Amino acid sequence: MKLKRKKVLCVDDEPINLQLLEAVLKPNGYDVILTRNGSEALEVIRREPIDILLLDVMMPDMDGYEVCRIIKGDEKFRNIPIVMITALTEKDDRIKGIEAGAEEFLSKPFNFSEVLARVKMLIKMKELNDRLHMAYKDIVNLTKYGGMAIQYFNPVNFNLKNSIDSIINQAIRQQEKNDERPELFVVGINDEKKNSWHWTMYRFLDRHIKEQEFDAKSHELLPIPESGMTHLAVLNAKDMKKSEMAHFFDKIRETSRAIDNAVLYLSSKLCIFALNYGHDVSDYDASVLNNFVVQSLFLKHLSSQVQETEDAFEYLVYSLARAAEINDEDTGNHIIRVGRYCEVIAEYLGMDDKFIHTIKLQATLHDVGKIHTPPEILKKPGKLTSDEWVEMKKHTIYGAKIIGDHYRLGMAANIARTHHEKWDGSGYPHGLSGEEIPIEGRIISIADIYDALRNARVYKPAFDAETTSKIILEGDGRVLPSHFDARIIKAFKENLSRFGEIYEELRG
Ligand SMILES: [Fe+2]
Ligand SMILES: [Fe+2]
Repeated sequence: MKLKRKKVLCVDDEPINLQLLEAVLKPNGYDVILTRNGSEALEVIRREPIDILLLDVMMPDMDGYEVCRIIKGDEKFRNIPIVMITALTEKDDRIKGIEAGAEEFLSKPFNFSEVLARVKMLIKMKELNDRLHMAYKDIVNLTKYGGMAIQYFNPVNFNLKNSIDSIINQAIRQQEKNDERPELFVVGINDEKKNSWHWTMYRFLDRHIKEQEFDAKSHELLPIPESGMTHLAVLNAKDMKKSEMAHFFDKIRETSRAIDNAVLYLSSKLCIFALNYGHDVSDYDASVLNNFVVQSLFLKHLSSQVQETEDAFEYLVYSLARAAEINDEDTGNHIIRVGRYCEVIAEYLGMDDKFIHTIKLQATLHDVGKIHTPPEILKKPGKLTSDEWVEMKKHTIYGAKIIGDHYRLGMAANIARTHHEKWDGSGYPHGLSGEEIPIEGRIISIADIYDALRNARVYKPAFDAETTSKIILEGDGRVLPSHFDARIIKAFKENLSRFGEIYEELRG
């Protein structure tokens, strides 16, 4: 049983007084610690939590006033109520005691009922004080957690389990310092797409949070509310047996230990049980838990909305890319493959995740300008005339124009404009060279040419992987190594097999 007996520390230089106090307190359910002088008492207080101190005034060495002043002067111990026990009845002595910070006075010889009544009342007061202090800390924590959750919120990559993990880590870690907090959590998350629950139990053991899988069928033992509804409840020991969740609690007992109390949140998406608080639980504890959960669920909701918009954005980019293919000979999966080769090169170059993700998607728009190029030029079986070439080359400019200047499509516009530029300056439309060509343009040029070589054209057969890489790395008169950035040639060379795999996987 975690609910503890209250600890009373008694300090008196007269053994007979200590025995008397013990005789009255112990049978009434208190743990009693007896000490003979002030320094011993201070040692005890520094060593273990004490609920109340009964302190003799007249003692050799350090008197009661001094002990009282030391304790009340220390932030950590000042909330321990002190009752000064004195034979003195002089008013001045009481004033001295009040000035030293004592809460109450008892006169010797003791009146047993008075001792008990005062102890009970002061412990109650301390409990209320502690609660207030804890409530303040809860508010600070909720705000801190909320702030952190927003700071690290990544809507495209939000994971509810991670978010719940961090709440629990925070709550259980506090338990180390404050035994009023729950010592055990059992959490179920419903993967609604798969309609399967995943249950985890968290415990604080040997200074570490131990996470273990919990019976996957647990939700079958619970009254899970309908979608959109939530159920919040508090259960103390006396409510547990008759609870409709009694079987669920039995399951926890099998794997763990006794359960004293529980605060729970149930919904069709998420169930959280916070167990074994160091006090009887109340609606207050439920609302703290609820606040944490609501914050997490809010972020999850926000994330799925953002994700939906993000999916729609990607879908439209692909649609636009496909629209441009209609008149082109590059059909099938050419645009998808080019995106994937770009991804491989970007990864190899150590670009960040955002760049990698963006180039993979936006490289698909490289030839979108061909929407404006007359089909007779695009599909002409023979050589283009010089006028036709001039028109053909304009697909780069048209592409950048169609994509426009929205910042989310900045890379796509660069790619459309520069995918035919060459490192040695021999490309089009602007004859840019070297680093004048943005990195995304340099990456796609090799990806686009690789894929073009792998496929048959009216003027050439399809080349296998080996011939294609030979042409790119050694040149064939039309394609020259000087067309490419040496870093990107290296990336290509190191990833030949992945290029081959992507081509095979996505060949149209
Ligand atoms: Fe092109
Ligand atoms: Fe292309």
